[in-house]
Amino acid sequence: MPLRAAIRTIPDYPKKGILFRDITTLLGDAKAFRKAVDELVQPWAGAKIEKVAGMEARGFILGGAVAHQLSAGFVPIRKKGKLPHQTVSISYALEYGVDEMEMHVDAVAQGEKVILVDDLIATGGTAEGAIRLLQKMGANVVAACFVIDLPDLGGAKKIEALGVPVRTLVAFE
Ligand code: PRP
Ligand code: HPA
Repeated sequence: MPLRAAIRTIPDYPKKGILFRDITTLLGDAKAFRKAVDELVQPWAGAKIEKVAGMEARGFILGGAVAHQLSAGFVPIRKKGKLPHQTVSISYALEYGVDEMEMHVDAVAQGEKVILVDDLIATGGTAEGAIRLLQKMGANVVAACFVIDLPDLGGAKKIEALGVPVRTLVAFE
């Protein structure tokens, strides 16, 4: 089954007029989940990726599986106030307004090879914030990888313009 068939669309969530692409159906389908993780991992086999960074919350599920498969460490990037040790934070653009995300100051080492993983890229504000945070701490962010691209919202182009290659598996309008 193609991956896109495993993704459910919920009309009018969280607001009227939005078609919400819901990955919980993909995650609940053993074959589709494995296929998505395998496809995210595939370009990086043998690339000596040292850390996979994932964004709360859905990036943790996919990023954790990708990190395991690559024998890499995992770096959680969380919403403000959730991490217990000393953090570095950055504000990032949401569709409406701004928020802050954080990571631990010692989560990556200088020059470490990192890929960023999330379920979906829309405007790219979340991924841009995460990349800037990782780079601020000296990481070498070699790519940003997503299951779903919403190309009409321009996020992938925005991230490529930062010099970070983007890989996505399925596009929806
Ligand atoms: C969603 C999604 C991405 C982000 C993409 O997360 O999982 O992280 O939005 O949007 P963007 O490209 O426009 O920044 P959300 O902020 O809904 O958080 P959640 O995973 O904790 O629900
Ligand atoms: N699905 C999940 N997360 C999202 C979406 C979506 O359609 N749009 C923005 N974030």
